[in-house]
Amino acid sequence: MGHTYLVTGGAGFIGSHVASRLLDLGHRVVIADNLLTGSLENVPDGAEFVRLDLADRAQYPALDALRPRAVIHLAGQSSGEISFECPERDLDINARATLLLAAWALERGCRRFLYSSSVSVYGDGSPGRAMSESDPVAPKSFYACSKLASEHCLRVFDQTYGLRSTSLRLFNVYGPGQNMANMKQGMVSIYLGYVLFRDLLEVKGSFDRYRDFVHVDDVADLILLCLDDTRSFGRVFNVGTGRGTTVRELVGLMLAMCAKPGFPVRELPGTPGDVFGSLADISLVERVMGWAPRVGLEQGLRGMIDFYAPRAGEGDVRAG
Ligand SMILES: NC(=O)c1ccc[n+]([C@@H]2O[C@H](COP(=O)([O-])OP(=O)(O)OC[C@H]3O[C@@H](n4cnc5c(N)ncnc54)[C@H](O)[C@@H]3O)[C@@H](O)[C@H]2O)c1
Repeated sequence: MGHTYLVTGGAGFIGSHVASRLLDLGHRVVIADNLLTGSLENVPDGAEFVRLDLADRAQYPALDALRPRAVIHLAGQSSGEISFECPERDLDINARATLLLAAWALERGCRRFLYSSSVSVYGDGSPGRAMSESDPVAPKSFYACSKLASEHCLRVFDQTYGLRSTSLRLFNVYGPGQNMANMKQGMVSIYLGYVLFRDLLEVKGSFDRYRDFVHVDDVADLILLCLDDTRSFGRVFNVGTGRGTTVRELVGLMLAMCAKPGFPVRELPGTPGDVFGSLADISLVERVMGWAPRVGLEQGLRGMIDFYAPRAGEGDVRAG
C-alpha cells in the first residue's frame, strides 16, 4: 500500500522527476504548484495537481484534505539573477512559503520535510576549494538569503516541534525537463538552449567560472533515499559530484557533442550575485547516506541533447 506525498514545485524540473519516481513506486502524489515557472505538461500522469501560491497563507485550505507522510518542498524561484528584480517577492516565494508550509505540515500531523536548498548559500567560498557543509555561509543574492533563511527555519521546526527536516544544498542540477525557454535559470539549460534553438551563444560572465553539475536522476535518487531514512533527519547535505567543470569546458563539450564546432559565442558582463566558482565536497552525504552520483557529465549531456535535439526547428523550446 503506497503512501501520500506532497511534492511542491512538481510542475517544474526537479519536482516532476521526483513525482514520477514516487508514482512508479506506487505512491499517491499530490503536486502543489502555482505554475510560476512550471508547466502542466510536466505534471506526470497519475499525479494530482493543486494550483496554489505557497507564499499565500489564504490559499492553504486547498490542501487541507491531505495528510501526507512527507512534504518534499521543491517549489521556488531559483534564479539568483531574477531575485534582484524584486527581493521582497523572492523572500516571499523562497522563505515565507517554506515557513508557512512547515507550519501547515505540522498541523496536518506530518513529521517529515525535505527541502531543496542551494549551493548559493556559500557565496564565493574559497576559490578552487570544494565547499563543505561546515564552511561559513555568505549569500551573494537575495535568492541565496531566502534559501538560507529556509534552512534555518526548518532547523528550528525540527528542534522545537519535531518536524524532521533535511535540507539538500543542490549544486547545478541539469537533465531532461529543464525549461529551455528560461534564459535566466540553469547554466546547462541556458547554454544548450542557445546551441540547439538559437544562432548565438551568450555567456554572461567569465569562461573561467566553474560549477559542479549534478544530474537530476542522481538528485531524485538521494531524495528518495532520504525520505524514510532517519540518518538524514535534521541534516544539511551538499548535493553535487565533487567534480568541477569550467564554463569553457562545458561550452566546448556541448558544441562538440552537438557537432557545432564553429558556433558563435559571445562573452557578456556577469550578472549580479553570480559566484565565480562552486564545487561540492560530498564526503558527508557519501558517508552518512551511502549515496554517490552515478551519471557523468558527458553521459548526462548526451541524454539531454537526445531529448531536446528533435525539438530544434519545431519552435518548441519548452520542457518536454
Ligand atoms: N535546478 C537547480 O540547479 C537548482 C539548484 C539549487 C537549488 N534548486 C532548488 O530546487 C527547487 C526546484 O528547482 P527547479 O530547477 O526544479 O526549478 P523549476 O523552476 O523548474 O521548478 C520550481 C517550481 O516551483 C513552482 N513555484 C514557484 N513559486 C511557487 C509558489 N510560490 N507556490 C507554488 N509553486 C511555486 C514553479 O511554478 C515551478 O514549477 C527550487 O526550490 C530551486 O531553488 C535548484
